[in-house]
Amino acid sequence: MAEKPVLVSGVKPTGDLHIGNYFGAMRQFVELTRKGEYRPFIFVADYHALNTMQDAEEMRRRIREIVMAYLAIGLDPEQVVFFKQSDVPAHTELCWIFDTITTMPYLMRAHAFKDAEAKNKEINVGTFNYPMLMAADILLYDAKVVPVGADQKQHIEITRDTAEKFNRIFKEEVFTLPEPYIMPEVATVPGTDGQKMSKSYGNVIPLFASRDELHKRVMSIVTDSSGGRPENVYAIHKLVRSENELETIYQENEGNYKALKELLVEDLDAYFAPIRAEYEELAKDDSIVDAILAKGKQEARALSEAKMGLVRGAIGVA
Ligand code: ADP
Ligand code: TRP
Repeated sequence: MAEKPVLVSGVKPTGDLHIGNYFGAMRQFVELTRKGEYRPFIFVADYHALNTMQDAEEMRRRIREIVMAYLAIGLDPEQVVFFKQSDVPAHTELCWIFDTITTMPYLMRAHAFKDAEAKNKEINVGTFNYPMLMAADILLYDAKVVPVGADQKQHIEITRDTAEKFNRIFKEEVFTLPEPYIMPEVATVPGTDGQKMSKSYGNVIPLFASRDELHKRVMSIVTDSSGGRPENVYAIHKLVRSENELETIYQENEGNYKALKELLVEDLDAYFAPIRAEYEELAKDDSIVDAILAKGKQEARALSEAKMGLVRGAIGVA
């Protein structure tokens, strides 16, 4: 029997997860892995997070939060290998090797670098190098598919370029070229101000918000007074209720933004209540996350070490 194609993805433990992360990427993890067609590796990108989050206590807490979120949304630990990037040394080792075959002008074209540079001239080397660590995350496992939001598309292209370049320079097909998996309808989930929902814009609806918190965030959704449909409310609403139903509801409540927002709170609360309950259950017992990460560490190390054997051979250090 042919081996199943590998799926790899990760999330940085840098802040509260929001529904943009969920609909844009994490829900696809669940859908794609449920059918059992892939061999999934889903990790916590803690070394990527270190670029912006340099506080040990917060790092520890947020790493656990991501693993609990993975479990709460319905990923099956029997099927998925969950691990911490920092538990698998091959990621940083391969990142170094990629650094040596990649030019600075090439990395200077990355959107994330350009944005960071525009805001902060004293940008750190880790941020500049971010795409090389991400390429290592993906290529170490021969990933075929990488489910992500639209903002990560360029990173996957860089990963493909890097794989091709390595194979060409060292004249061996060591790496497999991955494909991004981006759902067009949710490629960019808008936030409460209509821009892309993002931790860094302060416009999020947190994935594990209490009802009160949901209420507060939904009431802050920006609506313009030009009448008709409040587009920013609708754009979030259609994530949790069918557009067929919404057409009627929004027509019946035309101009009544308050009522539509109340209904959105209701619908978000009902949609996420089971996930929130599961998350709260998991938070009661630290040993569940510990055991899952310990097991994943072994599996990810074994597979990535085997790959590193081929890499070291190809470059001539072994
Ligand atoms: P943030 O932009 O809030 O810092 P991350 O960079 O940690 O989020 O993203 C984790 C995953 O969620 C990535 O796959 C990313 O593409 C996806 N994602 C983040 N924000 C959105 C959004 N607004 N719409 C769709 N996907 C998103
Ligand atoms: N860069 C991704 C983000 O900001 C996180 C990430 C790191 C990732 N390594 C990855 C995603 C490998 C997919 C595959 O969300």
